Amino acid sequence: MTNKYRYFIGNWKMFGDFSSLKIINSINNYIKISKTKSKYNRVIFCVPNILINHFSNKLNKSNISIGAQNCHQLNDYGPYTGSINSKMIKSAGAKFLILGHSENRREGETDSLINKKIRSAIKNDLTVIFCIGETLKQKGKNTTNKILSKQIETGLKKIKNLQKIIVAYEPVWSIGTGIIPRNKELIKTLSFIRNKLNKSFKNKSFLRIIYGGSVNSKNIGALSTIPDISGFLIGGASTSAKKFIDIMKNCYM
Ligand code: 13P
Repeated sequence: MTNKYRYFIGNWKMFGDFSSLKIINSINNYIKISKTKSKYNRVIFCVPNILINHFSNKLNKSNISIGAQNCHQLNDYGPYTGSINSKMIKSAGAKFLILGHSENRREGETDSLINKKIRSAIKNDLTVIFCIGETLKQKGKNTTNKILSKQIETGLKKIKNLQKIIVAYEPVWSIGTGIIPRNKELIKTLSFIRNKLNKSFKNKSFLRIIYGGSVNSKNIGALSTIPDISGFLIGGASTSAKKFIDIMKNCYM
């Protein structure tokens, strides 16, 4: 593995209220009792903005970190109703931030806008979970590598190194569908991404590539045998303590 840590990152999307902390608490209890196995595990929950401060205070001394799911690109206050910037996210207690998720790209977020957000997040000392991935249509046209190249080149423009970036490969057609790429196909795409990043960023020790899209306790076994994968970005299954714990249990890494 390029990086010794294994990331289990939950993306709650539009899920949860203050009482949902009990889900994360149960997962934290599991982590405590399985300490030896989890030495290199890094568990992160990216929750709705309103929950960041409360959850990060409550989990302050735990093995779990809190993240957000998107931000405004401006690194300052401004007249943007309903928006929140990375500085505010950081001050609320988050350490991580998902950017470039396909659900936001679908709403019109461009690669260059994502780049602005990434630069602002790094400035505020957040670790970015940078999502890339092709749609089914793009895959059908055999343009996956071209799409991923553009997302990486523009998204990571003017970024000096990958110390604060975790790249999450999430094929759009796999998100919420129960369909995952065949291992062979995934190995090929991940190695394309790795080579691409290695060309632009010299320091290989920072390189972390994770996979997201319909990860569950049944497919995690096969997914975790993929060489050089640093972890998983988990949507639906991260909203259930049992499902999330089962994923961690069945992971071979
Ligand atoms: P699912 O695990 O629900 O497919 O969602 C994946 C995802 O979008 C994580 O960011």
